[in-house]
Amino acid sequence: MQKPLIAGNWKMNTTIHEGASLVIKLRELIKSIDSVDVVIAPPSTSIHHLNQLIAGSSIQLAGQNVFWKENGAYTGEISAEMLRAIGCSYVIIGHSERRALFGDTDDRVNKKAHAALKAGLKPIICVGETLEEKESNSTLGKVKGQIMRALAGLKTGSLKELTIAYEPIWAIGTGKSATPETAEEVHNSIRELLYEDYDTAAAKKIRIIYGGSVKPDNIDSLMAQPNIDGALVGGASLNAEDFARIVQFESV
Ligand code: PGA
Repeated sequence: MQKPLIAGNWKMNTTIHEGASLVIKLRELIKSIDSVDVVIAPPSTSIHHLNQLIAGSSIQLAGQNVFWKENGAYTGEISAEMLRAIGCSYVIIGHSERRALFGDTDDRVNKKAHAALKAGLKPIICVGETLEEKESNSTLGKVKGQIMRALAGLKTGSLKELTIAYEPIWAIGTGKSATPETAEEVHNSIRELLYEDYDTAAAKKIRIIYGGSVKPDNIDSLMAQPNIDGALVGGASLNAEDFARIVQFESV
């Protein structure tokens, strides 16, 4: 089993200066942690600078998005190789905000996952249901479909690089987290789906993390669930103390 993964998705927040002061505080607060993979996903304008500030710490960097082409006439886009070159080890793919606002379909998510792995970036693939889908009992169907299409054509050997983030859309930025039991049920079904589609040893290596209103006061109970391997944190990752507390969850 890999270490738990706690990732902070800063979204479109922080200038380069604000990002630097956040990282300097965070670095100090978690300097003794080595039992967790700690990842931050700042806006791409800050990544290169922050990479210098995290040198010698256990903090790793992620892009918030990537384009699947290697280079060319794609104004405004950033390739996986470019993210690698400025210090990223991970990249978030298919966040619900990108799916809802910027046209990231399952097919695009799949292309981005292939491109990321090819360049040596570890994809964090986001899936999750809307409130209507939850209320019509379609959560598992939605999430399983998203995962199958996102992972299409990936080689079994690359699965260990992969993280799936289950982020119910109704829980993102709302303060209404899924209960640990509800999240565990979905994570467990995702794990079973992966066992069906890939060999068990390979599927076991995929981390399944939870996202959606993760805070210092609910992280411990979420992490106590057997199939929750970490968290993708939005709002609370913009506060160094809160994020440091989340990283230092108490395993019960
Ligand atoms: P939140 O965001 O923690 O603010 O709910 C999570 C996410 O969007 O990844």
